[in-house]
Order: sequence, then structure tokens, then C-alpha cells
Amino acid sequence: MKKSIGPDKVKTAVFISGTGSNLKNLIKFSFKKNSPISINLIISNKSNAEGLKYANQQKIEKKIINFINPKESEKKIINLLEKKKISFICLAGFMKILSNNFLKRFNGKVINIHPSLLPKYKGLDTHKRVLKNNEKFSGCTVHYVTSKLDSGKIILQKKIKISKTDKENTLRKKILREEHRLYPRAIKKIFY
Ligand code: GRF
Repeated sequence: MKKSIGPDKVKTAVFISGTGSNLKNLIKFSFKKNSPISINLIISNKSNAEGLKYANQQKIEKKIINFINPKESEKKIINLLEKKKISFICLAGFMKILSNNFLKRFNGKVINIHPSLLPKYKGLDTHKRVLKNNEKFSGCTVHYVTSKLDSGKIILQKKIKISKTDKENTLRKKILREEHRLYPRAIKKIFY
């Protein structure tokens, strides 16, 4: 993808469903001079997503799209993105699957972060399953999005050691910290 800096930063939308710590972190990153992206739109499928507060704080446009009718919802999103000339999408805790049709429209320009060492532990309850299987390592992965859950080409991955005392919540926190480092690095890798 083409490198773009300053006012010509790549116009980006972030899709969320919940807490939004990755969103908060991406907003902070986007304000930096060396960030190739600007965040111009935040989309949530939930009106009560905690992460929406960052849209308010930073005065970034936000839109709630409920996905009750996925086809209609995707149509609405495509119109919005086109209107705002958005060409890059970061999923950050977004709990809906995007269709092939939608992804084709944004070919190669939709990425996601997942809290495991993909291709291992796709889907939900990652940390619980990792601990149950007595894994020694876990981590996080930034990857391109396909219509198959957590399956697209890997952009970057960070491995961490699981300690014997780790519980689901300590592992989640540890990995989230790494996610916040990895996501901006992956975006830089794509554009620079
Ligand atoms: C993160 O662990 C991310 O990898 C996964 O969902 C979680 C979202 O966390 N896809 P947050 O909403 O960014 O805090």
C-alpha cells in the first residue's frame, strides 16, 4: 500500500464492540507524526460500547450500526466509508463477521487483532482455552481479515511466556499490553 504522511494520512475507520482499549491506543498512535493513518470514523455495532467514549473525547465521528440485518448494515457502512473517503479499516474487538462482499469492496484493506498466536486459538474465550491446555506461550496476532474467522494472512505476531501463576485475567492484561504495541507496528509495516 502507498505511504502517506501528514494531511495525506490514510483515512481509517476503526470498528469496535466493547471496551475499546485498542481503539484508544490507535487514536493516540494516529496523532503521532510518524503514523501513516488518521482515524476519521468509529463504527460500533453496540450503542453502549464503552470505547465510544474515546470518539466523544477526541471528537471523532462515530456511528452505531446494529447489524440486525447484516446485509443492510454493511451497505450503510460502505456508503459512509465512501462518503468519508476511508480506505483502511482496523477491527479492534469488533464482534461481527464481515461478508465476502464487503471485504471484496475493501480488498486487502481490513485488518484485525486477535489475542492468540494464530492459527492457534481462533474465536472466543482464547485465554481460557490456552490455560486449560497448559500452553507455555501465548500472544497476539495482527492479520488481514477474510470472511473466515481469524484466518487471513498474518502481518505481525508477538509471543509471550505464560507464567505458572497466570489466570485468565492476568493473561488477558499481559496480552492486551502487547496488543497495544503490536497494532501500531503492524500498521507501520503495511504502509512503510
Ligand atoms: C482484544 O483482546 C482483541 O485482540 C480482541 O478483542 C479484545 C478487544 O479489547 N479482538 P479492547 O476492546 O480493544 O479493549
